[in-house]
Amino acid sequence: MRAMKNIVILISGRGSNMEAVVRAAQAEQWPARIAAVISNKADAKGLEFAAAHGIPTAVVPNKDYASRELFDAALQETIDRFAPNLVVLAGFMRILTPAFVAHYAGRLLNIHPSLLPHFPGLHTHQQALDAGHTRHGATVHFVTAELDHGPVVAQAEIAVLPGDTPDTLAARLLGEEHKLYPYAVRLFVEDRLRIVGGDVHIADSASPSAPTSH
Ligand code: GAR
Repeated sequence: MRAMKNIVILISGRGSNMEAVVRAAQAEQWPARIAAVISNKADAKGLEFAAAHGIPTAVVPNKDYASRELFDAALQETIDRFAPNLVVLAGFMRILTPAFVAHYAGRLLNIHPSLLPHFPGLHTHQQALDAGHTRHGATVHFVTAELDHGPVVAQAEIAVLPGDTPDTLAARLLGEEHKLYPYAVRLFVEDRLRIVGGDVHIADSASPSAPTSH
């Protein structure tokens, strides 16, 4: 019997990816507990879902800190109270300091709404449309010091359709994110991910199977 893993999830807003991870962990009875949901915004909608599900919540308002370094240090202290094996960034809209990223090396995942290495940063749906891409998607990756550049765990793809706008693309992609992120987090929980020379190797197992893309 593997030890239970503690997962801390960081959000800045709606928290629908957090919700998908929480629901999958419960429904699929992962050997994991969602130890806390932490936000840099007191009014993040996702905090309500977490509290309603009995998950401890905390707010570390970035606006209360004079520098990125001070904020990240306070955030790290709050996260570490929950002894995380894994920290999951789920719409956490902050650029993290190298010291913070180093502290969580190998146990910090992010979901980014593009097919990395395409379109790091913001406005990814607009960027995909402007570039004339016919495929768009989302990427789950380990976080490294360089923004949106860490080893890729898994990606989900969608077609860009005639008439798509940033909003229609975002909405269609979000449904895929809600399958992709639980899939990737579960791989971590099951000890199936290894970072080898900047790539992620996924160890075989009977389950879970990769979500299909559309
Ligand atoms: C998601 O689409 C996620 O991929 C994106 O923000 C949204 C959060 O939605 N993340 C980023 O842009 C990170 N740079 P959610 O709060 O409902 O999960």
